[in-house]
Amino acid sequence: MTVPEPLPDPADEIDLTLPNPARVYDYMLGGAHNFATDREFAERVLAALPDTRELALANRAFLGRAVRVCLDRGLRQFLDLGSGIPTAEPVHEIAHRADPAARVAYVDVEPVSVAMSRQILTGVDGASITAADLTDAEAVLAAPGVAGLLDPAEPVAVLAVSVLHFVRDDDLLGVLFDRYATAFGPGSMLVVSHGSTDVDDPHTAERMRTIERLTRDTAQPARSRDRALLRRLLVDRPGHRLELLEPGLVDVSDWRAEDGQPGAGRAGMYAVVGEVVPRR
Ligand SMILES: C[S@@+](CC[C@H](N)C(=O)[O-])C[C@H]1O[C@@H](n2cnc3c(N)ncnc32)[C@H](O)[C@@H]1O
Repeated sequence: MTVPEPLPDPADEIDLTLPNPARVYDYMLGGAHNFATDREFAERVLAALPDTRELALANRAFLGRAVRVCLDRGLRQFLDLGSGIPTAEPVHEIAHRADPAARVAYVDVEPVSVAMSRQILTGVDGASITAADLTDAEAVLAAPGVAGLLDPAEPVAVLAVSVLHFVRDDDLLGVLFDRYATAFGPGSMLVVSHGSTDVDDPHTAERMRTIERLTRDTAQPARSRDRALLRRLLVDRPGHRLELLEPGLVDVSDWRAEDGQPGAGRAGMYAVVGEVVPRR
């Protein structure tokens, strides 16, 4: 798919003075939807940590595998929070290959991602893009692109892949995902990947610490969370729990790894994939 370079539109309030994670990530994945400031930052990261591109690819490959697992379990609705620019094997293409009637609601806060998503989704049935901040769950769930597309009585796979490290407040994160996890019908799933430093491999842990440090100079500083905290905020909740799919809370590269895909336990990002089970 050929998509033109993004043009800064003052109406979109694009801040070009600071690198933005959506566009840095796009650059890492080989996309064209980024600006000089994003590319310079990405090159700085790559100079310090040459294998960061593999991390982005491993994360993206995990997203594809998790979406296919949700489809195999019969889910046909997806809410993709912090969706970025849906170019590299986007969720709607994977879902529509399995079932043309599947529905995908993308949500992102970053203007270039939203503009590019709008362009990519023009003429595509069953997919929408909403410009919203995922930390305002009520606004996201009520938005026409979400409420008008997803049937809340049916299960939804809520995806939050490589985005929750931008939500820095732990309590807010827990409460937010209580809301998202329980907003839809029985059988709903949560799919998360999250940067971490409590990993066995010292190089991977150091890479994540360096990324955290480097992102302090960006529009959205990131923070990592360890496995115990992710369990507390996303898996074991007072009102519901996630029944984690095998192999549980592991590095994204190890989560149902397939031959020929990037990774092998070195991404430094945990996968959290589970079915939402209400507590009685
Ligand atoms: C690293 S990219 C990940 C994109 C995609 N989920 C993936 O894994 O390929 C993070 C995305 O989250 C978006 N984002 C960050 N904070 C957000 C927020 N509070 N609400 C909505 N989107 C957000 C960024 O704009 C960016 O597009």
